[in-house]
Amino acid sequence: MPRRKPETKEKPESHRIAASDDIEVSAYLELAKELRGEQSVVEPKLPPRERETIVVVDFGSQYSMLIARRVRECQVYCELVAHDTPWEKIAPLNPRGFILSGGPASVCDPGAPLPSSYIYESRLPVMGICYGMLAVAHHLGGHVARGAKHEYGHTILHLSAEDCPLFAGLPSSLPVWMSHGDQVMELPPGFRALAYSENSPLAVIGNDSTIYGLQFHPEVVHTAEGKTIFQNFVLRICGCKGNWTPANFISESVDKIKDQVGDGRVVCALSGGVDSAVAATLIDRAIGNKLTCIFINNGLLRRDEPERVLNTFKRNLKMDIVYVDAADRFLERLKGVTDPEQKRHSVGNEFIRIFEEEAAKLGKIGFLAQGTLYPDVIESASPETKAAVKIKSHHNVGGLPARMNFTLIEPLRHLFKDEVRQVGLALGLPEDMIWRQPFPGPGLSIRIIGEVTRERLEILRGADSILMNEIKNAKLYRQLWQSFAILTDVKSVGVMGDYRTYGYLVAVRAITSEDAMTADWARLPYDLLARISDRIINEVPNVNRIVYDITSKPPATIEWE
Ligand code: XMP
Repeated sequence: MPRRKPETKEKPESHRIAASDDIEVSAYLELAKELRGEQSVVEPKLPPRERETIVVVDFGSQYSMLIARRVRECQVYCELVAHDTPWEKIAPLNPRGFILSGGPASVCDPGAPLPSSYIYESRLPVMGICYGMLAVAHHLGGHVARGAKHEYGHTILHLSAEDCPLFAGLPSSLPVWMSHGDQVMELPPGFRALAYSENSPLAVIGNDSTIYGLQFHPEVVHTAEGKTIFQNFVLRICGCKGNWTPANFISESVDKIKDQVGDGRVVCALSGGVDSAVAATLIDRAIGNKLTCIFINNGLLRRDEPERVLNTFKRNLKMDIVYVDAADRFLERLKGVTDPEQKRHSVGNEFIRIFEEEAAKLGKIGFLAQGTLYPDVIESASPETKAAVKIKSHHNVGGLPARMNFTLIEPLRHLFKDEVRQVGLALGLPEDMIWRQPFPGPGLSIRIIGEVTRERLEILRGADSILMNEIKNAKLYRQLWQSFAILTDVKSVGVMGDYRTYGYLVAVRAITSEDAMTADWARLPYDLLARISDRIINEVPNVNRIVYDITSKPPATIEWE
């Protein structure tokens, strides 16, 4: 099969990167082949030009998902894949370019992960970030070594090739975020330096075949111009149209669900959150009355939540809903459990078991739909992203029992939260459902430190409903990604009236975030915090001290467990 020429428009002469060495692209490919000791190059098969995808190759960076987010912000579809994903899985995505993520390894170490050969052979544009850059430089014959100085945090990048399309619209110097120990010491043949920083003479490199390497992280918010760099790469260099919209997603998903389900039947787990509501509505659109929704009250919901959720669904979604009150079963299962991961697995397992029982009552049902999102998939270090380090097993993904009798349908598996909200609005779901703050599957169980008991649940519900009420009155609910209370296992001494008290410490957490991958603690007004504290102490028995959590993510996570 002849090698394909990238479909990007021919760049004007002024945008071309002058190669420092006049080596043909094919020479790199031969060189890369030689370096890998391969005999023959596997010619990639190219798919029909339908949806355009940027493939983000994951080398294990905690920022890999942010790269995916930045690409989606350009209205271009992208998928994050493990670095050793075979071409057969990449080809159907119709790739238009590759972004190679950072990662914890050192290319200097034996066995360090390297890009697959198809990345060069496809001749599509490549942007390697941090480790991704080093891997490309090493692979294509450059020299990478430990730098004399590590660079962590802010630094100033100076552009030395302002005509480079990657830099279009950027000032000649800009603040960027670095986090690396190794660096490129000698360019691979055919590459040239495009930008430098104080400690990295080769902070951005590139060649004539639109292979770029960036030592810094354009995906993090600290690189203020990162968005422009992504737009330049994805739209200008890869030639994507930027037309991936909620409407496109809806029609694609509806077709996919129809294909997957055929004549089968689906049960959908409704949680009350936007994710499962959007998933159910999409599936309803695809297969109508072959879908039955089940809402399980696990006893770990907030005050009045089961009633509120049921009413909203009945009013807004004209679907059959089976309501199951399983609070006793979940509480029994959680008796004596204090470990956070154990709580997640207990809740997840019980949840699936009840679903199996309910589905059995409905007759033959082959599929279980869930509103799993992309962050859940990635943070649980699923097989799709095996290089990442596991942080928490979010129960939608990590806690499923191996003996599960359903095939999973997860139509939102590749979406970020804000994309789900856009899809929900496009599907016509009501605004209060769309803008509900995320609530974790294991519910209040992971907001109670230590054992979950009825008494402790009631305390937390009381504190949480006051907090929510005050946040809504202050008209801050939608600005906050999440706001909630945590019941700690700390007791402290207080004084109320003339009496000594010995009560629980409740923590209040309010955060802003774009996607739950990173978060900042919200600077709530002091008078609001004071009101929340006064009301909780006065209205909730057994609580005598309130603290406000002023930790961002990272280093903390959003939930305490
Ligand atoms: P963390 O605590 O990991 O939370 O920073 C990120 C987001 O995920 C939610 N979360 C969960 N959702 N099952 C879920 O369905 C879980 O086990 C779980 N743990 C955390 C959390 O509320 C935040 O929005």
